[in-house]
Amino acid sequence: MKTVVLFKSKSGFTKRYASWISEELHADLIDMTAKRVDVNTLLTYDTIIYGGGLYASGIHGVKFIIANANKLTEKKLIVFATGVAPARKDVVHEVRDKNIPSDLRDNVSFFYLRGGFDFTKLTPIDKILMTLLKWKITIKKRLKIKLVQDENGMLAAYSMPVDYTRKRNIRQLVLTAEGQG
Ligand SMILES: Cc1cc2nc3c(=O)[nH]c(=O)nc-3n(C[C@H](O)[C@H](O)[C@H](O)COP(=O)(O)O)c2cc1C
Repeated sequence: MKTVVLFKSKSGFTKRYASWISEELHADLIDMTAKRVDVNTLLTYDTIIYGGGLYASGIHGVKFIIANANKLTEKKLIVFATGVAPARKDVVHEVRDKNIPSDLRDNVSFFYLRGGFDFTKLTPIDKILMTLLKWKITIKKRLKIKLVQDENGMLAAYSMPVDYTRKRNIRQLVLTAEGQG
């Protein structure tokens, strides 16, 4: 069984999970931010695992997999997302439903692995986006509008980087890739 782990990562959290998964499965590892990959490359594998960070609830780069899913029906497809939000059931379902079209959900196994947040590693555009988000949350706070748990976490993460990556989080994904999940 030939397996590939593909990923896109802006600040390294997804990259860490992708590296752990590829090590565990003895799979090829491809950084799609550095290397262009076409669907013919994917066709040489039996299991294709794609990972990307969450940016405003969208999984970075997953459109490549979704757009080619009709050519990969014979493959085992696994998608994982990393984000700063806690791995609660409602978060996981929301991310899956937003990113994986309903007609593909039977063919694509989805996992959410909690990543982290490091403001210092963001690109200038992401820094601007996050600053706007921070203002929005701060205004909500001033107006005494109740913040949801994730917003409080987001606010706290500005001053100090947070890292929730843990190797044990990949366990279920690895079992699924091995056909034991
Ligand atoms: C502009 C921006 C938007 C983000 N939106 C979300 C989000 O909607 N949900 C979430 O859980 N994390 C969000 N995050 C945090 C990232 O998903 C998190 O840092 C992720 O682990 C990054 O992975 P990467 O470094 O591999 O790209 C956001 C971060 C930035 C910079």
